[in-house]
Amino acid sequence: MERTLIILKPDAVQRRLVGQIVSRFENKGLKVAGMRLMQISQELGERHYAEHKGKPFYPGLLKFMTSGPVVVMVIEGPEAIDICRKLMGTTFGMDAEPGTIRGDFSCTKTFNLVHGSDSPETAAFEIPLYFKDEDLVEYTLDDHRWNADGD
Ligand code: RTP
Ligand code: MG
Repeated sequence: MERTLIILKPDAVQRRLVGQIVSRFENKGLKVAGMRLMQISQELGERHYAEHKGKPFYPGLLKFMTSGPVVVMVIEGPEAIDICRKLMGTTFGMDAEPGTIRGDFSCTKTFNLVHGSDSPETAAFEIPLYFKDEDLVEYTLDDHRWNADGD
């Protein structure tokens, strides 16, 4: 079982695409373990995106990510990290395959609607930036057996 941090970025909220994007993850059979609306502070943005500090797009990325509310989610399921990255599509909207979130709704480099952790190590770093343990809910979905391989 894996958990991944998903952020519906400020453009997703402003463009009222939150419902449609959450549906992509739900429709796939993944489970929402945590979710809330918040605004990312400058300090939190800097901690989250420390790996990109010094890159040309870093100032614009930070300005964008702190510009308005975001929806932060923890999504859980077998292989959740890779599955979510596939559902999101490649980084730049203009390159992302149709059928993916970015491929269907974005045509820019920066305003690409959604963030997803890119490895188990990244997820382990990112999730606690946004969620306390007690904010993540453990429960079983009634249709679980249809969305995971049995023995
Ligand atoms: P994310 O972290 O948001 O899930 O995206 P990612 O792994 O696909 O891409 P990453 O390389 O981590 O870049 C983080 C975010 O920075 C913005 N970006 N802009 N203008 C540019 O050249 C550029 N490059 C990256 C995007 O918003 C990207 O998602
Ligand atoms: Mg990334």
